[in-house]
Amino acid sequence: MTIQTLTSNSPVGDGLPDIAGLTKLANAFFTALPGQSVPDEASSVQLSDAPVTLAPQAEPVQAAPSLPVGGLHDFSRTGGSSYSVPPAYAAGVPQLSAVQPSAPTAGGAPASSGYYFLNEGNAFPSKSESPANLPVIEDRVQPQSFGLPGEADILALLSGDSRKPVVAATSTALPTNHFYLIDSLSQEPRIEKAPQSDLQAAKRNSAFDVNAIRRDFPILSERVNGKPLIWLDNAATTHKPQSVIDRLAYFYAHENSNIHRAAHELAARATDAYEAARSKVANFLGARSTEEIIFVRGATEAINLVANTWGRQNVGAGDEIIVSNLEHHANIVPWQLLAAAVGAKIRVIPVDDSGQILLDEYRKLLNNRTKLVSVTQVSNALGTVTPVQEIIALAHAAGAKVLIDGAQAVSHLPVNVQALDTDFYVFSGHKVFGPTGIGVVYGKRDILETLPPWQGGGNMIADVTFEKTLYQPAPNRFEAGTGNIADAVGLGAAIDYVQQIGLHNIARYEHDLLVYATHALSAIPGLRLIGTAENKASVLSFVLAGYRTEEVGSALNREGIAVRSGHHCAQPILRRFGVEATVRPSLAFYNTCEEIDALAAVLSQLARGKSSAGRY
Ligand code: ALA
Repeated sequence: MTIQTLTSNSPVGDGLPDIAGLTKLANAFFTALPGQSVPDEASSVQLSDAPVTLAPQAEPVQAAPSLPVGGLHDFSRTGGSSYSVPPAYAAGVPQLSAVQPSAPTAGGAPASSGYYFLNEGNAFPSKSESPANLPVIEDRVQPQSFGLPGEADILALLSGDSRKPVVAATSTALPTNHFYLIDSLSQEPRIEKAPQSDLQAAKRNSAFDVNAIRRDFPILSERVNGKPLIWLDNAATTHKPQSVIDRLAYFYAHENSNIHRAAHELAARATDAYEAARSKVANFLGARSTEEIIFVRGATEAINLVANTWGRQNVGAGDEIIVSNLEHHANIVPWQLLAAAVGAKIRVIPVDDSGQILLDEYRKLLNNRTKLVSVTQVSNALGTVTPVQEIIALAHAAGAKVLIDGAQAVSHLPVNVQALDTDFYVFSGHKVFGPTGIGVVYGKRDILETLPPWQGGGNMIADVTFEKTLYQPAPNRFEAGTGNIADAVGLGAAIDYVQQIGLHNIARYEHDLLVYATHALSAIPGLRLIGTAENKASVLSFVLAGYRTEEVGSALNREGIAVRSGHHCAQPILRRFGVEATVRPSLAFYNTCEEIDALAAVLSQLARGKSSAGRY
């Protein structure tokens, strides 16, 4: 629906661009990123009163319902000039980073760079390229690339061989043709040659270069306590690529307006940007339409929305809501509030000693009083990937609806809500490289259409009199007031970014990284991993004998390593394992084996300190 032309206001007859055309040309020039050429389309500013083309046709945006909101004119949808962002922003991944690091030099001599992780010789391209355009190459970097201990150093460290330096400078680089394999958590780490076919498959799937990806995240160049930041707190929040940061700035510089409700250009731009973001979310989740996507503040508000609309309408006295022992408090407390209000019961699916849901126990809980099953797809505290497909099918067979909490899943796994056949799916933007304060409820359209509003106010109404108010259909019915417009747009840019890398590529890379990290941590004396399910994503929760979790967190912080320590808003599952708190490193696709090595080195030093003091 987006039209990409603006008509110049003042015809000129002297062969020069009119004022509007010159302004647009100047804007295009000055908004080009450093090192970037002025978009071609800027040069198509017309020399007459013909339409001034500013941007090429963007991907079509499926429009949300076009009822007039609040009785006001919906400018962008009724023939007014409409707008699309320049391609560098629409594409989600900038063509070039705002700051260009200098190229690493062959042979290991550091090139000068604004980035702390880039000063090493390695085989990776030096240009900051769009991940989609990167060559398919070995995606592992050498530990020594970052001046960190390599595998040999870690093994030496773990075996107490003090002759090896903890942080090696050179020469112990890993061979390139291997995987990091783990057979048993109790075994010593070992490296095996992967079969050639597996290696080729891995290369095919490794369509990104982690060093190039890291350059897209400016905060990864920070130093903490004099050390390069190692961000292993991705389950708490993820960092933002430059494209998301740029998109937010662009919104406020060029599009800022309230949406849906004014007959002026910026309202059209902002509305288009916001609805385009909704379209991206719908595509990201595999929803049937944008009408199934509601913007909220985050997963917590999303679950509260479902509890207060669908829940209030459909759960009554004696009914049952099933959750699992793994849930975040956000997927427990809203149901407790609902249950207390209507006289319903909460039933809990237990987990086995690895932290995986016991499907047989779940089957026993289902009955004709079960109205809802609400479970996480990935546990934030343990990393367990739950069998949501089976959980949903079993719930539906029992006549219950299902909500899947995808807060910890969407940054790690491809999700398709239609394939899952889930009734509701929720997630938070900030866990998937987008801004804080924006999240999503997916709901099947036929269900959303039956639900009452949640909050009342502007934007969600079709007509108001003192006698009676008519509401908008979904999704607007559930978006009362001025929403978080800019951050929804930023979320759209984050989705563009991860989709260009590819969730399958991300899942594959992170799987290998998690295996490597599990292996490294399991070998540390006195370290107990909490959550060892076969199917896990991202998270390594543990306790270290002789240390409080906050002591471990502080020791890591002194080395620039960020992890969360505490109860992770998931007290029931930690208590299931007999602990009140854990240390929780959590991974994202910008983390590296070298960062895991640095983590393991600090933990090993801590463990050895207690060991030599005879404290365990
Ligand atoms: N839910 C977030 C976490 O797991 C805050 O850390």
